[in-house]
Amino acid sequence: MLGNFVYCNPTKLIFGPDSLNSLGNELEKYGKKIMLVYGGGSIKKTGLYDKIISILSECGKTVVEDGGVMPNPTYEKLKEGMKIARENKVDFILAVGGGSVIDYSKAVSVSAYCEEDPWEKYFVRFEDVSCKIIPVGSVLTMVGTGSEMNGGSVITNREQMMKVGHVFGENVFPKFSILNPELTYTLPHRQMVAGFYDIMSHILEQYFSGTDDNTSDYIMEGLLKSLIHSARIAVKNPVDYEARSNIMWIATWALNTLVAKGKTTDWMVHMIGQAIGAYTDATHGMTLSAVSLAYYRYIMPYGMDKFVRYAVNVWGVNPEGKDKQTIAEQGLEEMGKFMRETGLAMTASEVGVTADMIPGIARATLIMDGGYKVLTTEEVEEILLESL
Ligand code: NZQ
Ligand code: ZN
Repeated sequence: MLGNFVYCNPTKLIFGPDSLNSLGNELEKYGKKIMLVYGGGSIKKTGLYDKIISILSECGKTVVEDGGVMPNPTYEKLKEGMKIARENKVDFILAVGGGSVIDYSKAVSVSAYCEEDPWEKYFVRFEDVSCKIIPVGSVLTMVGTGSEMNGGSVITNREQMMKVGHVFGENVFPKFSILNPELTYTLPHRQMVAGFYDIMSHILEQYFSGTDDNTSDYIMEGLLKSLIHSARIAVKNPVDYEARSNIMWIATWALNTLVAKGKTTDWMVHMIGQAIGAYTDATHGMTLSAVSLAYYRYIMPYGMDKFVRYAVNVWGVNPEGKDKQTIAEQGLEEMGKFMRETGLAMTASEVGVTADMIPGIARATLIMDGGYKVLTTEEVEEILLESL
C-alpha cells in the first residue's frame, strides 16, 4: 500500500428490503424543513413518492419539493435548486433517485449559500467549499454511480458543452443512504445494464494503474467476479433479489474511496465518456461501454502485466503456453463477450457520436495522468474514431 493516506467514510448505509423503515429515525436528527429532490417522475409511478411523503408527514416535517432533475443534471437546473433551498431555508436535502438526483442534491447543498458562481468555483477551478453546507441523505433507486457513499457530483453545462465532476470531501458525502434492492426492480432494462457497466468501469479505472502489489487490486478482482456473476443472473431475471442486492452492494464499494487507496487511478474512460455526454446527453454507463474496449486495446502495451493478470484472475483465461499479448487479448475478448450479452452499447455511434463531433469531444476530454499512458488530445481522437 504505497503512499500516505487517510480513510474515512462518514456515510451510514441502511441496507435491505426493510431499510426504508429507518428513514424516520434518521431524519429525526435534522431540522423540520426537508427539501425533497427527485427526478422525472419514476418515483411517482412506482409509489415510492407517496411512501416518502407519508413518512415525512408522520415525522412532522415540512416538505419543499424540487422534482424534475434530469439524467445528467444541468447547471441551469442547479440554479433553480439553489434558489429553492436558500429561499426556503431548508434544513436537509433528501435525494430520492439515482446518481443524477444525488449528485444534483450535493451540488445544491454546496451552492445554495455560495457567494461566487458555483460552476466557476467547483467545476472550473475545482475549489473546496467555503460556505455553509446543507446536509444530504439519499434513498437510492438506480444502482451504478456510487453517489450514495461518495462526494462525487457531476454537472453538465449545456451552454459550454462541458460535463464535469467535482469530488467533494467527506463534509459533502450523504449523511445516510437507504439501499433497498427491491426499489431498483422497476428500472428499464437499458438503465439497469448501463448501471452494471458503470460499476465495472469504476473498478477498472482504479484497477488499471500502478505496478505494485496492492491489496486494493485483490479487493477489486473479487468485486469484479461477483459483479460479472450476478449481472449474468440479473440480465435473465431482473427480480432475482440475491443478484440485484449483490450488485447494489458492489456498486457502493466500487466508488466509495476504499479501493482507490494506494492507487494512482486512471479515469480516462470516464473523461472521454463525460465529454461524449456533454455532446449527446447519452446514458452515462453506455458512453463508457462505447469507448472502453478501444481505449483498453490502445493502452494495453503500456500496462501489459496488469492486463495479463486481469485476463487470468477476472476472466479465467488459461495462461499456459501463451505469450502475454495473447493472454491479455483473450481477457479483453471475454470482457467484450460479456458486454455484448449484457446488451451494452459497443460503439460510439450507438450513443449518438458522429465523426464531425470527434475533434470537439476530444478537446472537451480532460486528460488525467494516473493510468498507464498519458494520452494526448490526438490519441483521444484516435480512440474515438476506433470506437465509432
Ligand atoms: O428521472 P426519473 O424519472 O426518476 O428516471 C430515472 C432516469 O431516467 C430512471 N430511474 C431511476 N431509478 C428508477 C428509474 N426508473 C424506474 N425505476 C427506478 N427505480 O433512470 C434514469 C437514469 O437515472 P440517473 O440518476 O440519471 O442514472 P445514474 O444513477 O446512472 O446517474 C447518472 C449521473 O451520475 C453521474 C453521471 O455522470 C450522470 O450524470 N455520475 C456520478 C458519479 C458520482 N457521484 O461519483 C460517478 C459516475 O461515474 C457518474 O459520472
Ligand atoms: Zn461512472
